[in-house]
Amino acid sequence: MRHLIQTTDLDTDEINEILKKANAYLKEEATHTLKGKMAVTIFFENSTRTLSSFEIALKKLGASVVRLDVSKSSTAKGESISDTAANLNAMKPNAIIIRHKNAGAGEHLAKYVSCPIINGGDGAHAHPTQALLDLLTLKNHFKNNLKGKKIAIIGDIKNSRVANSNIELLKRYGMEIILVAPPHFLPQTRLKTTSNLRSIINEVNAIMSLRTQTERHDTQTYGSLKDYAYDFCITKELIKDKDIIILHPGPVHRNVDIEDEILKDPRCKVLEQVTNGVAVRMAVMEHFLL
Ligand code: CP
Repeated sequence: MRHLIQTTDLDTDEINEILKKANAYLKEEATHTLKGKMAVTIFFENSTRTLSSFEIALKKLGASVVRLDVSKSSTAKGESISDTAANLNAMKPNAIIIRHKNAGAGEHLAKYVSCPIINGGDGAHAHPTQALLDLLTLKNHFKNNLKGKKIAIIGDIKNSRVANSNIELLKRYGMEIILVAPPHFLPQTRLKTTSNLRSIINEVNAIMSLRTQTERHDTQTYGSLKDYAYDFCITKELIKDKDIIILHPGPVHRNVDIEDEILKDPRCKVLEQVTNGVAVRMAVMEHFLL
């Protein structure tokens, strides 16, 4: 049984096939290829984009979706998540899509089920479908030519599953990555790093801004969000009229991660990423269920 826990669970040929199919879904209506299939979504952490995107993707393909309301589930009464998964699996779903605050949750549950587990984000570890939709957005913008293009990943990188998954995938497609963050947000890495965004802004073709994930911080690690924004917010004053694109996985902290004016700028791909996310998840679900 195959699962999608991290981007390395897919080889490059499979990813190319998924992105090709996703591009087709951006242009044409879906047929009900997953009619008769049923998927369960269990999100132990909040989500706007990933949860609705998976559910819309599945419904567009004719599958039925059962959403487990975690606040009303028996995990709230002390049932372990492995027992929750085993019980859901006993109802014979064709896939379980899970988000959890603990890294490794999806991999752990995979031992208790007989259907694919699709990781909708586990702690600071991985968010494979986010990285796939980011890759699609970048490939479409740069006309499939990512080799040698430079991207700055900016923000709370150490706590970011989005950064982890993107670093693996974008390196695989030949992008040069620069990690930009205050020292306490930088992971141990062999990639180029800097805390001075202004020093690298002229050399990058793309920016991926990340949210400061205060929910994963044990203590406040910078003076205030205003101090952080002064150094790392993507502003008009910073990017001027440069030929550059701006990505962000959402949710955006307005005027901390990206300023209002740039969110309206055509170079900002935030909502295009969301649209691409539905198409990518359609292709992913077909890949694992057909
Ligand atoms: N990008 C992302 O994972 O957003 P949500 O937390 O809203 O799902």
